[in-house]
Amino acid sequence: MGHWVLDDIPWDLFDRNKVDPEMVRIVKAASLVEYNGVAYAHHLCRIFSDDTEFQQKARGWGEEEIQHGKALARWAAMADPEFDFEAAFARFQAGYRVDFDLDVSRRGSRSGEMIARCMVEVGTSSYYSALRDAVQEPVLKEICGNIAADEIRHYKLFYKNLARCGERERIGFWRRLRVAAGRIAESSDDELAYAYYAANEAKRPYDRRRHSRAYAAHAYQLYHKHHAAHGVTLILKAVGLNPHGLLARTASRLAWWFIRYRATQLARLTRPSSH
Ligand SMILES: [Fe+2]
Ligand SMILES: [Fe+2]
Repeated sequence: MGHWVLDDIPWDLFDRNKVDPEMVRIVKAASLVEYNGVAYAHHLCRIFSDDTEFQQKARGWGEEEIQHGKALARWAAMADPEFDFEAAFARFQAGYRVDFDLDVSRRGSRSGEMIARCMVEVGTSSYYSALRDAVQEPVLKEICGNIAADEIRHYKLFYKNLARCGERERIGFWRRLRVAAGRIAESSDDELAYAYYAANEAKRPYDRRRHSRAYAAHAYQLYHKHHAAHGVTLILKAVGLNPHGLLARTASRLAWWFIRYRATQLARLTRPSSH
């Protein structure tokens, strides 16, 4: 049982005047990615095939991700009654394929898988916190607040399980760092770009670079310094480094510089031509 249900959302406070059309586009894309959580939960249950305790937690986690998808999809349909979630999700599933039937982790070990999952939850918790702080529309603000709180708990769930895995399989620092960096780099892979395309532009052909930029251009604008700092703290903790020392402060500064740089660069690249 999750910490909230769809009926807890004050849907009747929806305020059309505070809807930003570009926000609707990224919310539609996010709803598809979140709703796909069930496939990841299935994959985790295969990787931890002899661990019924963790399997149960993974299923609960998958259900919460699905609820994120449902809440975002319902809000998107209020903002744009023409949004057909089922059709968009079918397009997303047909075009974005990952082999979820593997029973070993692509990260080489169970610990590696947990580090990768932690990185995803760092990304989502920072993202929904930034979205919650940026949006004006009250219903979406509430949804993002609930989701952000869930994503932090998800991080803790995987972090705790990482410690459990570490009792049986030790993976060295450099391996941890490599898995973490690899998963962060994958954030710019097809998943979000394809979701943005499937949710918003299905009549045109998929263009990975264009759709990836379209999604990221809006997402990068949302962040503030404290979102970056919080994300860095969680990343360092997961790879086994001190999350509060000089390294953390330097890494935060670098992360913030990078986010500003990317936001400016993406804004320039995606600006419609005046000709
Ligand atoms: Fe989520
Ligand atoms: Fe999550």
